[in-house]
Amino acid sequence: MLLSTLLAQSKKPEGWLGRIMMRLWNKAYFSMAKWGLGFVNIPQKGAILDVGVGNGLTTKYIAQNAPSSLVMGIDISETAITIARKNNAADNISFSVMSVDNMSFQDNSFDLITAFQTHFHWPSYIRGLEEIYRVLKCNGQVIIACEKVKLNYFMSNDRNGEYTQRVAKNIGFHKFGKYYYLGWLCYYLVK
Ligand SMILES: C[S@@+](CC[C@H](N)C(=O)[O-])C[C@H]1O[C@@H](n2cnc3c(N)ncnc32)[C@H](O)[C@@H]1O
Repeated sequence: MLLSTLLAQSKKPEGWLGRIMMRLWNKAYFSMAKWGLGFVNIPQKGAILDVGVGNGLTTKYIAQNAPSSLVMGIDISETAITIARKNNAADNISFSVMSVDNMSFQDNSFDLITAFQTHFHWPSYIRGLEEIYRVLKCNGQVIIACEKVKLNYFMSNDRNGEYTQRVAKNIGFHKFGKYYYLGWLCYYLVK
């Protein structure tokens, strides 16, 4: 019961418990996000999309490191986006309630797309990656990072990253990298 409640919150944080969970995730995942961002040159004067933002702490960090870029953060949770707008607003950030598998952005919109500790929750991982590919500019970069242990639980077909590599190649990404550190995993894709 407790486990299923926590898992449901992780998939879509809601209410007071969701707010607490998002703060706990900051403690657990913010360092991982900073590590993952170390694999890209954060585009200056570009457009950046952060998917599955929770309370938006990482989105704000990205925006602080690219003050002349426009940064968009999306999440399916209204609770998450309300808190993100309240706590992590900045002039170059906007947040929207939106699902990665059905984004309202135009084709070729973003230079960098990030997704931290979220991809294993998407309704369809393939559809999410196809949408990311669609809204990414040519030569745009993608960072997908998570705790490896969560893949064992939620996406056991991708424990070694071969599934992501195959799917990404089929979609059209021309570069794939895979990095490990501590218990973290990071995929790097280029369109
Ligand atoms: C475990 S939290 C991680 C939040 C944040 N990235 C962090 O590192 O703290 C996963 C987030 O992904 C969001 N999410 C799940 N499915 C999603 C989807 N289809 N599209 C966008 N966001 C989604 C959830 O609502 C939740 O806020």
